[in-house]
Amino acid sequence: MLVLGIESSCDETGIALYDSELGILANALHSQIAMHRDYGGVVPELASRDHIQHALPLLKKVLQQAGVSRTAIDAIAFTRGPGLAGALLVGASIAHGLGLALRKPVIGIHHLEGHLLSPLLVPRPPSFPFVALLVSGGHTQLMHVADVGIYQTLGETLDDAVGEAFDKTAKLLGLHYPGGPEVSRLAEFGISGAVKLPRPMLHSGDLNFSFSGLKTAVFMYLSRSGPHTCEQEKANLARGFVDAAVEVLTAKAVSALKRTGVNRLVVAGGVSANHQLRKALCSAAECSFDVYYPEITLCTDNGAMIALAGAMRLQRNLEVANTSYAFTVKPRWDLSTVNNLSGTLE
Ligand code: KG4
Ligand code: ZN
Repeated sequence: MLVLGIESSCDETGIALYDSELGILANALHSQIAMHRDYGGVVPELASRDHIQHALPLLKKVLQQAGVSRTAIDAIAFTRGPGLAGALLVGASIAHGLGLALRKPVIGIHHLEGHLLSPLLVPRPPSFPFVALLVSGGHTQLMHVADVGIYQTLGETLDDAVGEAFDKTAKLLGLHYPGGPEVSRLAEFGISGAVKLPRPMLHSGDLNFSFSGLKTAVFMYLSRSGPHTCEQEKANLARGFVDAAVEVLTAKAVSALKRTGVNRLVVAGGVSANHQLRKALCSAAECSFDVYYPEITLCTDNGAMIALAGAMRLQRNLEVANTSYAFTVKPRWDLSTVNNLSGTLE
């Protein structure tokens, strides 16, 4: 089965072709980071317009790369939500226009379902069930994944997502958007323990998170140290932030595995590219559980994870045919509600 995946929920246009036998045949991405950088974050209207400009050329590119024609596509999967409404509508329109022209099924995918299934694209993927730690710019969640479409939320952030905290901390430190990789890089020059920041909700007894206080702690530290904070002190502060965030994520993930009795952890979403987090999980995992990540290039948003989710949903008959090709998008959408037949029109 050949599935076209279209991702346009935020600031990346991702188009990919996934074959259920052969894997990813082609994967193309256009990032809007450079365009949004001047504004310090994503400008929704600019994002939508940019998706319009890049989606069709990327589609042509993946068809060429894969050496297949449009008519070979068996189904089209697109990100239906959550995300920016205008940006989602670009992907949804293209998916349905193409679906109608080719008379092929069109499947609306939950963006986080794409992320949490993305580690299944590796050569030796985890089997179900597993616990998923979803760490992106908009979400921080621990999920029990029994199978595709059977998701139970174990815990989530009560305020900022961890990626958001990375981005806000970067801004406070005068680093570029998106701040995650930059904070991570600066932290490498910092001395561990030189700046000790709080570990929010580490001992809360549940699997929830809170990251807005951590970002505020960075703000308070910088307010005290003044405008002439030296580079080494900034690096120490970045290190303090990363150490705190990583310790909480690792402890809660380990606790989720213990509570569920599952010994496979899947880590996905943009922050799963963070090497300090990978290192901490790797040492926590020694002997007691296995950790799976997407390839580094598939940690952030991409079309391949959407195509994979579409293929897996179709293989399990989790989709009902949308014969009218009418559509809506879901800018706000709780992952635990995708359990049932997703039916693009419900
Ligand atoms: O999954 P993603 O591409 O988009 C959303 O669905 O939100 O995640 C983007 C987030 C941003 O907050 C970015 O700063 C963060 O992932 N990120 C990182 C790293 N790479 C991306 N955070 C920490 N370390 C990284 N290496
Ligand atoms: Zn994402």
